[in-house]
Amino acid sequence: MSFEVEKTVSLRNYNALALDATAEYFCRLCSLDDVHQALAFARANKLTITALGGGSNVVLKNTLHGLVALVELRGIRHRCVGDDVYVTIGAGEDWSSLVALSLRNHWYGLENLALIPGSVGAAPIQNIGAYGVELCDFFVSLQAIHTATGERREMDAKDCEFGYRESIFKRRERNNYLITEVCIKLSTQPNNRWQYPALRDALEAKLGDASAAQITPQLIAKTVADIRRAKLPDPARLPNAGSFFKNPLLDEQQLARLMVDEPQIPVYPAYNNLSKVPAAWLIERCGLRGYRAGEVGVHERQALVLINYGSGSAAQLLALCEHIQSAVEQRFGVCLEVEPRIYGSF
Ligand code: EPU
Repeated sequence: MSFEVEKTVSLRNYNALALDATAEYFCRLCSLDDVHQALAFARANKLTITALGGGSNVVLKNTLHGLVALVELRGIRHRCVGDDVYVTIGAGEDWSSLVALSLRNHWYGLENLALIPGSVGAAPIQNIGAYGVELCDFFVSLQAIHTATGERREMDAKDCEFGYRESIFKRRERNNYLITEVCIKLSTQPNNRWQYPALRDALEAKLGDASAAQITPQLIAKTVADIRRAKLPDPARLPNAGSFFKNPLLDEQQLARLMVDEPQIPVYPAYNNLSKVPAAWLIERCGLRGYRAGEVGVHERQALVLINYGSGSAAQLLALCEHIQSAVEQRFGVCLEVEPRIYGSF
């Protein structure tokens, strides 16, 4: 398909929340040549570029000015070095399909990250994570193009400054780079990680008593997929962007204060003496699980997920977000940080 820029395009089908935003200009990037043409178009017309992957972790306000570039760069290649398998993946590949392919090929590591919606190129931006594993555990490097200068750059894990649902692409270099390719290191030897409480419980329910000998990467992937299907709504049926808030990290004092009211709350140790507590628990304790405000609401099985019931707008969704944040702040003195990236203007 030849490179083409369209004007005034609805992005409703390109974001998992099904928000009816409009791109001032829109193009698809299927090759590196397309990327360079898009950069040239943006430069010639003094436009900013917004790269869009699977749209599964974004909130789009009404209008996205400039050029919205849908990243559809494909291709997967691999190289074996002993037991290690270096897999290099085009940014436009689907994450969930990559996990399935890696398991079929007996390349292990990604099983806990099964069924996460979105594209491979978006994965490093928020350092996707689930069931005790994060992308940064396998990450080797990525290729990115600086949208303003066209300069190509290889970045390793240190350059990406990964944290919990964080990277340099959400902070200092926000919107400055277009990720074209990601390289990860998997292994032909299973290294099963199943101690995350919800995963361990589900495995025990399946196996009787989860003993390490019975657990395979395939079983972990299947179990993770089952948990996700049971808890998280399918964006194709109930538009949503996964977790809408990060789980807050509390220092010792904040945690001690919270534990007075909520002695039962699960606490996960994090780095720098901080503790992570589930935002979903706090939202639920404010009575907001299943809360609905017109066309938007809080999912009834997972309070961290906000839903667009059909014709909800970004304004309604962000109003609901503020309502939740202030309820949690007032009751617990804890500030909830929005997890997806917000683009555009009203
Ligand atoms: N909980 C509630 N109410 C709810 C849901 C959960 O009280 O409605 C409590 C439960 O006590 C549970 C705890 O929260 O023990 C944790 O719940 P869960 O295991 O579902 O995980 P989470 O902390 O809500 C995080 C990630 C998910 C990831 C799961 C599993 C973030 C922001 N979210 O959710 O990631 O799948 O852990 O590892 O860290 C995403 O990023 O979009 C996402 C879905």
